[in-house]
Amino acid sequence: MNRLMHMLQVEKPIIQAPMAGGITTIELVKASMNEGILGSLASGYLSPGVLEEQILAVSRHSRHPFQVNLFVPHEGAQPTFMHVEEWKERIPYSEEAEPFTTLDEQWDDFNRKVDLIIKHHVPMCSFTFHVPPEKAVKQLKQAGCLLMGTASTPEEAILMEEAGMDMVCVQGSEAGGHRASFLETDGDSSIGLMSLIPETVDAVSIPVIAAGGIKDRRAVEAAFILGACGVQVGTPFLLCKESGTPLPHRQRIMEAHSSDTRITSLFSGKQARGIVNRWMLDQEKYEKSSLSYPYQNTLTKPMRKVASESCDPSFMSLWAGQGIGSMKSSTTVSEVVYSLWDHEIKR
Ligand SMILES: Cc1cc2nc3c(=O)[nH]c(=O)nc-3n(C[C@H](O)[C@H](O)[C@H](O)COP(=O)(O)O)c2cc1C
Repeated sequence: MNRLMHMLQVEKPIIQAPMAGGITTIELVKASMNEGILGSLASGYLSPGVLEEQILAVSRHSRHPFQVNLFVPHEGAQPTFMHVEEWKERIPYSEEAEPFTTLDEQWDDFNRKVDLIIKHHVPMCSFTFHVPPEKAVKQLKQAGCLLMGTASTPEEAILMEEAGMDMVCVQGSEAGGHRASFLETDGDSSIGLMSLIPETVDAVSIPVIAAGGIKDRRAVEAAFILGACGVQVGTPFLLCKESGTPLPHRQRIMEAHSSDTRITSLFSGKQARGIVNRWMLDQEKYEKSSLSYPYQNTLTKPMRKVASESCDPSFMSLWAGQGIGSMKSSTTVSEVVYSLWDHEIKR
């Protein structure tokens, strides 16, 4: 049993990545727990009420551990009225967008979710987009909850360790979905997992979990050789029958090559990796002037909803990592876990 398996009390040192926006279903989390890996509920975009229903459904299902993932609010650049108007002109259906949420509302949502995690004795909580506040860390630790921060550079991982995280998930540039990055870096280049794991392992003393482009046993082995003691996997679960991935998203994954994804802020205002589509190509020249998160996200929400309802992948956010090249058919959580883990190898 390695360090992570011991801490999490799981059979396999694998975490089903939290995937917000409807992709993480209760079935996906339950099936992951049944396979002996850590299931993750994705609380991003969920109301506290819905999160509570999901926590209860998952805890009633099994005594195996699971985690809840939280988006840590932070203040992005406040856009000017004119900047917002420019984007409203460009984004289809933006007139139907909900009012922007204030930072206070985001913190209220975060704090209510922390209270639920404590109330229902959720064994583990992970954070993305920033370092969680001291108060929440203290409350969660007092309640016996294990904490994991997400980092995309060794410097961010050090801040997570200093903030009291029990472990850190390092997200390589290959990863699908939103980037966890929160520190400004010189240049645009995000770090590939092969460099990120050993540099982080040398920089912190807490366990390091690797995420990004991991899709089979060879990649899991490589992550271990580089010093990780667990992996967090997202993209390979997108074609599982248990996940909530919409049909057009599934179809595009099956058609795409590994080189068909790109990092963009055009959907949410925060950098995220997804399959290139018409929205990304049409708006390419405005990429750098995207509104900050959550403003861009709020304005594109109706466009993404209409596109999804009409099965049109051109205007949906098709989040996926660079591991999509070999994903050609529907699968199950059991098959994905089997492809990731060799029971014969003891760690
Ligand atoms: C569709 C999708 C949604 C995601 N949503 C979240 C999220 O809500 N919270 C989070 O911490 N990470 C999220 N991620 C990132 C994953 O935690 C993880 O870093 C990533 O999936 C690993 O790379 P891979 O997709 O190549 O396996 C998401 C990833 C994908 C593909």
